[in-house]
Amino acid sequence: MIKKCLFPVAGYGTRFLPATKAMPKEMLPIVNKPLVQYGVEEALDAGLFEIAFVTGRGKRTINDHFDTSYELEHQIAGTDKEQYLHGIRSVIERAVFSTTRQSQMKGLGHAILTGQTLIGDEPFGVILADDLCFNPGGDSVMAQMVKIFRQVRCSIVAVQEVPPDQIHKFGVIAGEQVRDDLYRVTNMVEKPAADEAPSNLAIIGRYILTQDIFDYIKDTPPGKNGEIQITDALLRQAKAGCVMAYKFKGLRFDCGSIDGFVEATNYCYEHFYKKQAAR
Ligand code: UTP
Repeated sequence: MIKKCLFPVAGYGTRFLPATKAMPKEMLPIVNKPLVQYGVEEALDAGLFEIAFVTGRGKRTINDHFDTSYELEHQIAGTDKEQYLHGIRSVIERAVFSTTRQSQMKGLGHAILTGQTLIGDEPFGVILADDLCFNPGGDSVMAQMVKIFRQVRCSIVAVQEVPPDQIHKFGVIAGEQVRDDLYRVTNMVEKPAADEAPSNLAIIGRYILTQDIFDYIKDTPPGKNGEIQITDALLRQAKAGCVMAYKFKGLRFDCGSIDGFVEATNYCYEHFYKKQAAR
């Protein structure tokens, strides 16, 4: 039903300079795996096997990461180091990758519109790889959203409750609660001041979008920071039809910030790497 997942990875990652001067933010490793691989694994876990990247200048290593490295494969074939490639090999075998380029950084809405050529005329997932999500022992966040989509058949944004001093960093929704974890969106504000936020429900980097979102983005003028904001397009879609906000189960780390990146690193080291190494 939904089989495509778009990864807008064209941003400059300025909060991570100088690390991101010549290296994409999405290739920064959380322990021994780049951020973008966690995102692609989440998409695959949700049954989204067609992976579409919207890249920009200096992002070639993302494509290289999801390609076979013949020299390396040849070098370590038959040695005990081969095990380190098993994870990424399985990702490459299970997914189909395509790429287009966003020539100017005009915002997330514009990046998603740039991906239209890869998505075509069908609903699709969007993962922002710098938001790292885990739901230990349960469905991944994207898999949870695919299940909700089957019921509601309209665009869905993942939301989480955030404290007032953090709210200005997010798109924030207002909505009618239809179930304890689901809201029908009535308003959305991009990066509001704490006293102007319509709620404490902040949009994080997971979306399922229906294909008419492209027309709404085309009609959306630049908003906050002069960028074409996906929240502005989603608000139009919500007013004309339906957008749902889903309070996901699980954890989210903002790996676009230093604090979130370090927290995610500690979490993955404790919960995945150490357990793996102990086997
Ligand atoms: P961010 O707001 O995190 O921007 O974008 P950024 O450039 O990645 O990081 P900072 O703020 O400069 O440190 C959210 C997501 O949208 C993508 C980014 O790659 C990131 O995944 N994006 C943003 C684009 O692909 N194109 C854009 O024009 C803007």
